[in-house]
Amino acid sequence: MTKLLLRALAGETLPTPPIWMMRQAGRYLPEYRATRAQAGDFLSLCYTPDLAAEVTLQPIRRFGFDAAILFADILLVPQALGADLWFATGEGPRLSTVASAEDVARLKSADQIHDRLGPVYETVRILSRELPRETALIGFAGAPWTVATYMIAGRGTPDQGPAHALKDRDRATFAALIDRITEATILYLSAQIDAGAEVVKLFDSWAGSLKGRDFDDFAVAPARRIIEALKQRHPHVPVIAFPREAGDRYIGFARATGADCVALDNSVSAEWAASHVQVDGCVQGNLDPRHMVAGGPELVAEAQRITRAFRGGPHIFNLGHGITPDADPDNVAAMIEAVRSA
Ligand code: CP3
Repeated sequence: MTKLLLRALAGETLPTPPIWMMRQAGRYLPEYRATRAQAGDFLSLCYTPDLAAEVTLQPIRRFGFDAAILFADILLVPQALGADLWFATGEGPRLSTVASAEDVARLKSADQIHDRLGPVYETVRILSRELPRETALIGFAGAPWTVATYMIAGRGTPDQGPAHALKDRDRATFAALIDRITEATILYLSAQIDAGAEVVKLFDSWAGSLKGRDFDDFAVAPARRIIEALKQRHPHVPVIAFPREAGDRYIGFARATGADCVALDNSVSAEWAASHVQVDGCVQGNLDPRHMVAGGPELVAEAQRITRAFRGGPHIFNLGHGITPDADPDNVAAMIEAVRSA
């Protein structure tokens, strides 16, 4: 029996969708907080394979999700390319910045990333041994634009202003940075697949701030290049693309990039996406994460509305973005029950 997640990704319409959640291993779970305290800081948790595998498995044990996602972070790639990275408590990530052609030239070459990322591949190997037979293992990376926004600004930014400024001032330098991240991402995801990842996901969390030609050049083109290279090496490994807040640019995104599935954020309605995006194949999403905090009848109604809207084609149930630290684990169980009884 093939795993439910892989069946949906192969284009099968299922009576009940497979279920997992972005950030399912995270601070809303007391067992995650305990393991993170044991590791010390967040990056040590990412780079300690036994502990990273442990937190990946925690939500699988508690909820029996159909997929586990490798515990790591999209910012490990810039660090492997030579950026300094640290997490200021309560403030999010901080990185040394890339602002000029010289800064891009100083980055390591893509094939040097493995020197630093070995522990991540080891986490994948542990997980592919320890996961239940029915649970699929998802590897991931940040998409080049989203990773570049952090490398250029040195932090998260509400409007990605510094990255847009570099792109508009010096498109060649910006494109060279995108190319370097693209090459590193191909090698990184390929190594995760070699270690046992069965599906990979590209997180383009800030795709929504790219418009017009910029969206084509820096969201579509790098995703297409990464997916083409992966398909050459690993033709049977499905790819989920998440161009978050792409709006009407979700239409045709799978066809334009070769992705097997498009993940939807909660700013688009499931009914709209069923007729405009799911027509091209599998979709993932898209419950508003705030329902995992509030719970109650609204959570049940929304989870069931989404499940029913996507019932006519391949669908993976997920949130529209990551579950937040203030979510109640009991609401996760209620969500799963609602989807399965829709
Ligand atoms: O989904 C999962 O459970 C897998 C692990 C995962 C993490 N980050 C763990 C994490 C994944 C897939 C990511 C992706 C990621 N990381 C993205 C893209 C998806 C998205 O959320 O838009 C981005 C933009 C990042 C960068 C990042 N990492 C930020 C901005 C932060 C700080 C914000 C926060 O929630 O604290 C992180 C830290 C981070 N990554 C945490 C986790 C569980 C929280 C760290 C902690 O334990 O303190």
